Amino acid sequence: MSSALPHVYISEFKHHVGEQVRLKGWVYNIRSSGKLMFPEFRDGSGIVQGVVSKKDVSDSVWQQFETLTQESSVIVTGTISKHPKLENVYELHVSDLDIIHIAHDYPITPKEHGVEFLADKRHLWLRSKRQWAIMRVRHEVINAIRDFFNQRDFTLIDSPIITPNAVEGTTTLFELDYFDLGKAYLTQSGQLYGEASAMAFGKVYVFGPTFRAEKSKTRRHLTEFWMVEPEMAYYDLEMTMALAEEFVEYIVQRVLEKRKEELTVLERDLTKLEKITRPFHRLSYTDAVEWLNKHNVKLIKKAADGSETEIDFPWGEDFGAPQEEALMAQFDKPCIIHRYPAEVKAFYMKRDPENPKLALAMDMLAPEGAGEIIGGSQREDSYEALLERLREHNLPQEPFEWYLDLRRYGSVPHSGFGLGLERTVKWICGLEHIRETSPYPRMIYRNTP
Ligand code: 4AD
Ligand code: MG
Repeated sequence: MSSALPHVYISEFKHHVGEQVRLKGWVYNIRSSGKLMFPEFRDGSGIVQGVVSKKDVSDSVWQQFETLTQESSVIVTGTISKHPKLENVYELHVSDLDIIHIAHDYPITPKEHGVEFLADKRHLWLRSKRQWAIMRVRHEVINAIRDFFNQRDFTLIDSPIITPNAVEGTTTLFELDYFDLGKAYLTQSGQLYGEASAMAFGKVYVFGPTFRAEKSKTRRHLTEFWMVEPEMAYYDLEMTMALAEEFVEYIVQRVLEKRKEELTVLERDLTKLEKITRPFHRLSYTDAVEWLNKHNVKLIKKAADGSETEIDFPWGEDFGAPQEEALMAQFDKPCIIHRYPAEVKAFYMKRDPENPKLALAMDMLAPEGAGEIIGGSQREDSYEALLERLREHNLPQEPFEWYLDLRRYGSVPHSGFGLGLERTVKWICGLEHIRETSPYPRMIYRNTP
């Protein structure tokens, strides 16, 4: 008889109060007190508390409930009611139960587990409430990214993952053997293909997995991560910074609007995210260096013998995490740092016509210690200058011939940036470590499950 009842997802319970329905899911947790049992069920769309009363169910149903274990799969029949005290919380008053499968000794119990243990069990860890909340925020960030660009008439162009050359320096390349053609590499960024595509479609975005053989074990680096890279013909640095700000505001406000429940599970301070509205802060690299030195933020230099000395921050050096953290401590909104020394930046960046020591580069740093979420620039659009850059960076010309073609045939000023998906999710969720933002993270010391 119960099979005739409608199957309703937990997320839809609010529309079915008072109705008898079926829930198809798993046992998340069980508490009992004598003649009452309070199993929590999950079905992927949410978690709900069931109420089983010995006097309301048959003896056989009660006995079946007594055999249930954490993560057993079940189809439960019951009536939805509002929680007597809590707003927007519902309960299922259970009348019947079908056991689909009993789980024996589920390894992740409500007690505390070490993070390495949980990471080994990532395929199961994803079922827990916190991981569920993070993945749902990630899903929303991805949707927001697509909607933002689609609404603004950008064309999505997929760039290849197997590529013949480096984009972001040769030290973080994953190499593979490519048949008779020799070495190929996993892409570090789809940017160069984004540039070619922008010359064909005007405004494009590339959105896909990227790879960096990062040798450092930090809380912000994965070896495989997703990056979204808009690239726009006829955009200069200024227009690109403005777009990046509008984009980041849109993502954060969209997650706030649609994923309050998940952010609440994560105990995220929503007031911090509510503040992420334009205008954001901007600082030139040169002003940032001045600020660091005025505030006595020293650079620690390590000598070959291991000894350390503290020095004033020298103009020309790239910022590391300590400088970025010090700079951002004063802000509760993101800050764009622009016009970096050309020497520390990539070969494809255009020099500032007002000061050729500078690249028309920009990084967006997020507050609360989240660090860099965006890197971007205006691109070198002169054939001669780009050729010179390739030489300066000791890059071979031949693999870049197609890229040079963009400067041979109708070259135009153009710009773009890349936003790291996992860095952004880490910031919005308020996480300590980036590993939880990827469903199956890849890091220097982990490639399983
Ligand atoms: O600053 P990056 O290296 O810039 C580029 O790759 C440009 N080609 C993008 C462009 O202009 N189209 O990387 C961009 C962003 C960083 O700001 C960061 O958010 C993320 O990608 N990122 C990483 N995220 C996780 N793990 C890593 N190892 C990352 N490396 C970069
Ligand atoms: Mg960068």
